[in-house]
Order: sequence, then structure tokens, then C-alpha cells
Amino acid sequence: MITATASGKIILFGEHAVVYQRPAIAVPVSQVQARVTIKKTKQPLTIDAQDQRRKISYTDLRDDDPLKAIIRLTLTSFKVTPPHATLTLHSTIPIASGLGSGAAVSTAIARALAKYFKRDLDSAAISSLVYEVEKIHHGTPSGIDNTVIAYSKPVYFVRGQPIETFNVAQPFRIAIADTGIQSPTKIAVGDVRAAWEADKDRYEKIFDGCGGIAQHARKLIKEGQPDQLGSLMNENHELLRQMGVSCRELDDLVDAATRAGAFGAKLSGGGRGGNMIALVNESNESRVREALMGAGAKRVLITEVNRDT
Ligand code: MEV
Repeated sequence: MITATASGKIILFGEHAVVYQRPAIAVPVSQVQARVTIKKTKQPLTIDAQDQRRKISYTDLRDDDPLKAIIRLTLTSFKVTPPHATLTLHSTIPIASGLGSGAAVSTAIARALAKYFKRDLDSAAISSLVYEVEKIHHGTPSGIDNTVIAYSKPVYFVRGQPIETFNVAQPFRIAIADTGIQSPTKIAVGDVRAAWEADKDRYEKIFDGCGGIAQHARKLIKEGQPDQLGSLMNENHELLRQMGVSCRELDDLVDAATRAGAFGAKLSGGGRGGNMIALVNESNESRVREALMGAGAKRVLITEVNRDT
């Protein structure tokens, strides 16, 4: 039996604007993971998606099902037919919540199939296979989710440009709080596109603001001044509000974190629900966690961003 995993992710700065070629920063979150095992059997390929309580043969999956898509694309790249095996999938990454669940499931499947067939599949190859599947999930994805998850490293991402990983000079801590509201990225991205079509000048200015923040943040992270990221998070959240992708629950969590002493906070990912993030340190993190739970968060994770995240 073989096993492969993939971490979740958060976007620190630049979501949505990244779809419009502005830079964004994302980091893996290893506390939540997708895990795939493949076990040889005598039966044709069966998928056991444990979280969805769904056991289905590969041939019965719809062609546009993301699980079928990643398996088909990976097998095609190996020039092999589906194995006689059971592929079991289990993920602790909440779906439709900005933590990259779709990209992580696809990445874990591609990694598991590569191990099963004893093939070398490097991060770039995995990322481009997963990107094809992301298009089914998201419509017009920027490619940041598949990149940060397939490379498992902090990335400074500009759509269409070579991937840039960067040095985290001084580790910093982020609280991640879930509103519990599922919000498919595809819908938020589609709504931003419609709003941009209707008022390009206004939205281009907002996107420029987000891009500038991501650039500044990269400098602070590389130079070891992460304590100054808080005000950039607050500014980025305000721009995301202006874009129309926040909601009352996210704003309440951002306010609660800030009042409890977080250095800054913002929504993370597609918005309209899902998760928000707050910059904390060891001395205020439990206070911030309590405040977030008190303000309605369904769960709070604390992650450290460091060189090996
Ligand atoms: C989703 O994690 C991030 C968005 O910017 C969409 C994308 O980049 O494809 C909202």
C-alpha cells in the first residue's frame, strides 16, 4: 500500500487581485492535509472518498468530476491505463473555505499515482496537472493554489511568471479562523469579474493597491520584519471589502482578532465565508484564539510561517 499527502494553504496577501496579474503571497499550512492511499486489488480502479462517504468505480465517475480529471490527466501523462486498485481519499481540509482543499486533494492523488507507478513527477509537473483540474473547480484560477501546494513552499506568485519561492528571514505566527460558511471560490471570482467588467477603473485601482501590499510584504518577510505585516493585512482586508468579497461574519472575526491584540487581520482566499487570518505572537495567541471563538469562529488553527513551512 502506498500513501501520499498534500498540505492546505493560506493566502497571506493579494487574493483576487492575483487573478488580474498582480503579485500575491501564499504559504502551505501543514496542520490540515489531504491523504491518499492506493492499495492493489483484483477489481478495476475504485475511489473511496471517505469524507463524502462515496465509494465509486473510476469508470462511473462523471468526466467533469475533479477526482476523475486528476486521475485521468496523471495516468495519461504516464501513458498507463487505470490500475486494479482502491484509491482511498481522506482530507482534514475544510472544503470551500479558502484553504486549498481542491488543489490539495488533486496534488495528493497525483503524488500517490506517481509513487504507485514509480514515476518521477516533480513539483512543476504536479502543479500543471492540478492547474488543469483547478479550472474545473474555479473557472478562471490564477494558479496560486496549485503552485503553493505542489511546491510545498511559501511563494510569491505572479500569474504567467516563473514561480518564485522566497526566504522567510524570521518566523511568524498566524491564527486561522473558520467562519464555518462554505463559499465556493468560483462564485466569488465570478462576481469580482462581473464587477470589474462593470467598473474597470475602480477595480484596477483596488487590484493595484493589493499588488503593492504584496510587494511590500515580501520585502518585510525577506528582511526579517514580520511584525510590520499587521498593518498591511488590515489594508488588504479593507481593499477586499471594497471588492465586495467580505461578509459580516468575516468582518466580525477581523474586528474580534484586532480588539484582542492581533497585529493585523484579513480574510484569506475567495472570501464571502471561509477563513480569515490574524498576525499573532506567542504572548497574544491564546487571547486572540479565545476572542475568535467567542465571535463565532468554528475553529482556530495557529500556524508558524518559517523557511521550511
Ligand atoms: C483562491 O485561493 C484565491 C483567489 O485569488 C482565486 C485564484 O487566485 O484563483 C480568490
